[in-house]
Amino acid sequence: MAEKQSSSMARKSFFGLFLVIIMLFVLSWLFLLRSTGLPPRSFDPKSLPIPKLPTVFRSSNGLSRTILVNNEKQRDGGGREGLPKTEQGFQDKDGAVTCIGIVKEPLKIFMYDLDPEFHFGLLNWKPQGGRVWPDILTEIPPYPGGLNLQHSIEYWLTLDLLASEISDNPNNRVVIRVQNSSEADLIFVPFFSSLSYNRFSKVNPHQTKSWNKVLQAKLVKWLTAQKEWKMSGGRDHVILSHHPNSMIDARMQLWPAIFVLADFGRYPLNIANVDKDVIAPYRHMVKSYANDTSDFDSRKTLLFFQGSIYRKDGGFARQELFYLLKDEEDVHFSFGSLKNDGVNKASQGMHSSKFCLNIAGDTPSSSRLFDAIASHCVPVIISDDIELPYEDVLDYSEFCVFVRTSDAVKEKYLIELIRSISKEEWTQMWEKLKEVEPLFEYHYPARNGDAVQMIWQSLARKVPSVKMKINKSRRFSNTVVPHQKDGGLRSIPAPKNFW
Ligand SMILES: *[C@@H]1O[C@H](CO)[C@@H](O)[C@H](O)[C@H]1NC(C)=O
Ligand SMILES: *[C@@H]1O[C@H](CO)[C@@H](O)[C@H](O)[C@H]1NC(C)=O
Ligand SMILES: *[C@@H]1O[C@H](CO)[C@@H](O)[C@H](O)[C@H]1NC(C)=O
Repeated sequence: MAEKQSSSMARKSFFGLFLVIIMLFVLSWLFLLRSTGLPPRSFDPKSLPIPKLPTVFRSSNGLSRTILVNNEKQRDGGGREGLPKTEQGFQDKDGAVTCIGIVKEPLKIFMYDLDPEFHFGLLNWKPQGGRVWPDILTEIPPYPGGLNLQHSIEYWLTLDLLASEISDNPNNRVVIRVQNSSEADLIFVPFFSSLSYNRFSKVNPHQTKSWNKVLQAKLVKWLTAQKEWKMSGGRDHVILSHHPNSMIDARMQLWPAIFVLADFGRYPLNIANVDKDVIAPYRHMVKSYANDTSDFDSRKTLLFFQGSIYRKDGGFARQELFYLLKDEEDVHFSFGSLKNDGVNKASQGMHSSKFCLNIAGDTPSSSRLFDAIASHCVPVIISDDIELPYEDVLDYSEFCVFVRTSDAVKEKYLIELIRSISKEEWTQMWEKLKEVEPLFEYHYPARNGDAVQMIWQSLARKVPSVKMKINKSRRFSNTVVPHQKDGGLRSIPAPKNFW
């Protein structure tokens, strides 16, 4: 009996011991998992989703840094080793790199071999031997100077695409040209529309239409007949229309495409909008302020304005402000254009002013904003409907002062607001301006984080929504029409109320 009891007790305690061991084992296993992190070992950054929303981190000095969160590792504050190679950024004065958009893979672009009359032909480049593109290893057709340059994005983007094919460092590229359109993320239409507008808008006596209008009509006819256009209804096409008056005819027919614009001023909302399109900076006209050693006190002018006061359309505020500010002694109004010596005078004026005024003109955007940024002159923006480049990854309130038009035209409001900004606040904005200024510079060859690369990245961020729109548009069009001329491609009817 006693023996039986003790043996059952031994069994029980053995069972208890067994339980304890199992529990210890489970606990240690959990602990091990936690310490190695999940998923263990086989972490592959390539398997992570492409970047979506930017996150702004504030650094200790109060200046924020914009970083596009790319993967779990970085979100956890872990090391950078999981990041892909193409990482865009610029360095602040302490040498710290601020990342502006981390691109997983280069954007793949198919560029039509449009007849040179649409692009470099407009620059008087004479194609030889049936070439469509200049051989950029031996010749880069020059772009005209003067005010034409403000809208020259078409030139820089096209050159960058051509350069991507001969790049000696393909891993550092944010964009590559692909020759097969079915491998492309987006389709690029290399029409230099701003140049066409600027140079060929005149109707000569023996013509009924300007060359600019002829080219646009030709483009619409040709483009809408391409299989790439028909496949997507144009939704994955990129069309450059930076001068507000460029593409004035064609845009009503090509609107499903992504436009690259200076602003939306001349566009109805259904033709162009922030969701669908991309805003690109003007190329600035004033000189860049290299090695800017100025400070709050050395910039003697408080507020600088360059431009004409009397503008049609939305520009009424200019006149009002002129009368409100003209008697303030440290406010400088400079009329006259940027032609001839105007650029030098404006450069001097902006380099020696603390704040530069940007007031809506004919359209909400103003090239002066980019002149102010290049001059590190803190922009004061009075333009309620302005849309700004890369605003999804850049917080302009860190280096610009925004004032509502209805407030700005109140007696004393603007001048008192500007005078109330302290030296410290101004200096912080000026430091930030120097940091972001490279994002607005156009270069060939493109540089890390310059305007060319920033625009490609803005376009890359449109790709997922473009793909979704294309897939949605196919919902009711998957019946292949027999005997269709283009070999059974699903042709999508021109969209009406699509967006
Ligand atoms: C283009 O790419 C598609 C899909 O990758 C492929 O099926 C097609 O054969 C390619 N066309 C050419 C001309 O290489
Ligand atoms: C700016 O400073 C750098 C280095 O100090 C120098 O190499 C460069 O020439 C300077 N640029 C101008 C425009 O003064
Ligand atoms: C659209 O459909 C294709 C297959 O044709 C698919 O690969 C792609 O992921 C879809 N796009 C989206 C955004 O769902």
